[in-house]
Amino acid sequence: MTDQAFVTLATTDSYAKGVMVLGKSLRNHNTSRKLVALIGPHVSETSRAVLHKLYDEVRLVDVLDSGDTAHLALMKRPDLGVTFTKLHCWSLTHYSKCVFMDADTLVLANVDELFDREELSAAPDPGWPDCFNSGVFVFRPSEDTYSKLLQYCTEHGSFDGGDQGVLNSFFRGWATEDIGKHLPFIYNMSSIALYTYLPAFKQYGSNAKVVHFLGKTKPWSYTYDPKKRALKGSVEEASSHPSFLLEWWSIYSSCVVPMLHHEHGDQPFYSGCAGSSGCDEETLPPLVPAALPAPPLSSAERKQRWEQGQADYMGIDAFANIEKKLTAFLKRW
Ligand code: UDP
Ligand code: GLC
Ligand code: MN
Repeated sequence: MTDQAFVTLATTDSYAKGVMVLGKSLRNHNTSRKLVALIGPHVSETSRAVLHKLYDEVRLVDVLDSGDTAHLALMKRPDLGVTFTKLHCWSLTHYSKCVFMDADTLVLANVDELFDREELSAAPDPGWPDCFNSGVFVFRPSEDTYSKLLQYCTEHGSFDGGDQGVLNSFFRGWATEDIGKHLPFIYNMSSIALYTYLPAFKQYGSNAKVVHFLGKTKPWSYTYDPKKRALKGSVEEASSHPSFLLEWWSIYSSCVVPMLHHEHGDQPFYSGCAGSSGCDEETLPPLVPAALPAPPLSSAERKQRWEQGQADYMGIDAFANIEKKLTAFLKRW
């Protein structure tokens, strides 16, 4: 399948870490498709060298920025104007069909069946399910679509200041026209699902094929102790399930860090990680989340954390506790 590819994007070295782990996770699950990384000019030579080892094609693109601070402020993500750069993926016309995946996604199983879908197939956004989430989508590169999309951006901008707003306006039939274009949520399981619908996560989470670390805090924002194979600090504050974060870190520390060392000779991206060459996933001890006790929070602090998507789902906000509270409340009526 040389004319089909998975495509991703990094404009910075931080997002490049995500691209490296994503590429390795696709290879680990034996994809038969090509892997393409779009990168911006600020990605360092060291990162580029590693990306060349993991990806079939590493393509330098201009950074496109919506510059739309007003709409981005509504999402509390001023950094996402550059996601317009994603639109370059329609220019990859040497492929007949592609699947775009955000740099903050991780593949948990082979997902090559996504290529059976048509443009524009995507999963619902957990925040507004009549919009699709643009972290994973199937598309057909085309000069015609590419120029129409850029034109559309110039004329109408984006309602969220990022690519997701403009893509939802451009492919506006998605919500109602063809259910075949609705990808099951397991192909883009946003970490947000944990605190918006925990029972469904408990029921279906194990079927997930792609996890998306959507939101401000990314896997690479945490600190990891490779000896204990645990995240440092309070995992209860994590906006994503610790086991997915640990899976991400397992690939990063065992496969990516040795490649970065090999390219750079020291430890520019991660210090204190054991192993200097090759992948040593097999020999590492089992993963353990570091369960550090968090100081008690006031009710106002807890409310604020909930609203910021930082539920303590392993502790006080656990499903069992919420259920207990609801039952007690209902009994009163
Ligand atoms: N991205 C990038 N540089 C940035 C911000 C975003 O390369 O400074 C790319 C990257 O592929 C990322 C995607 O755009 O995964 C969307 O951004 P992000 O995943 O942070 O958005 P979220 O899914 O959290 O809304
Ligand atoms: C979203 C998507 C992301 C997109 C961003 C900006 O939340 O997850 O892929 O880049 O919004 O539109
Ligand atoms: Mn994302």
